[in-house]
Amino acid sequence: MRQSLIVGNWKMNGSRAANTALIGDFVSCMAQLGKTDSDVKSAVCVPFVYLDQVGQLVNAESESPGAIKLGAQDVSLHVEGAYTGEISAVMLADMDCKYVIVGHSERREYHHESNFLVGQKALAALQAKLTPIVCVGETLEQRESNSTLAVIEEQLTAVKSIIGEKNLSRIVVACEPVWAIGTGLTASPEQAQEVHQFIRAQLGADADKISLLYGGSVKPGNASELFQCPDIDGALVGGASLDAKSFSDIVSAASI
Ligand code: PGA
Repeated sequence: MRQSLIVGNWKMNGSRAANTALIGDFVSCMAQLGKTDSDVKSAVCVPFVYLDQVGQLVNAESESPGAIKLGAQDVSLHVEGAYTGEISAVMLADMDCKYVIVGHSERREYHHESNFLVGQKALAALQAKLTPIVCVGETLEQRESNSTLAVIEEQLTAVKSIIGEKNLSRIVVACEPVWAIGTGLTASPEQAQEVHQFIRAQLGADADKISLLYGGSVKPGNASELFQCPDIDGALVGGASLDAKSFSDIVSAASI
């Protein structure tokens, strides 16, 4: 069965003090809501330098209603060696990460990551037994020229051909329209469902085992209607994951 999953992407935000407060407040909010994470899993993908600290914070709460898993925001395609500044999937696993985001649109745009590179990063993650959260999504220009589905198909095809169809059930896919990220604009439930349904149809025999997340300005106010869409299993949350109350409300909306 598909797992409901809410992932916070902290991006380049945080400090040791702010991280401690945020995780502590999130756990208290979840306790107040009286939710257990048996039906919805949550995770935070934090800057590399804070993996150790946040790992310890989330480990200390592993039995609480606010139990949360650890993830990173990017990974090298290489295993080890002379790659200055890179972090390997094996290192992330060594830090107790469970998830890693690959192909976020900010990496694709600012670091020119290609579909091929994203597929190789997904493979590196799988080889280290991490779950890659593979991001796909169209720009506003692509949506307006009616190429949304073609763009997403191309992004997915690269990943599929590199990791192999038999490994598809080991990934999570996050569909994030680039025009909705950090802009306050959200895809309507109808727009989001159309694309998520299309993605599921691309994912082969195990499609029904794969969690598909929507991302792009998800907030407590729009989460429920998105989660009612039959092919949306959760969310990748940027800005709202930096606020404990908002993030816990989104997790809670997924567990109804
Ligand atoms: P946002 O970011 O929720 O701030 O729009 C989502 C993301 O980039 O993953």
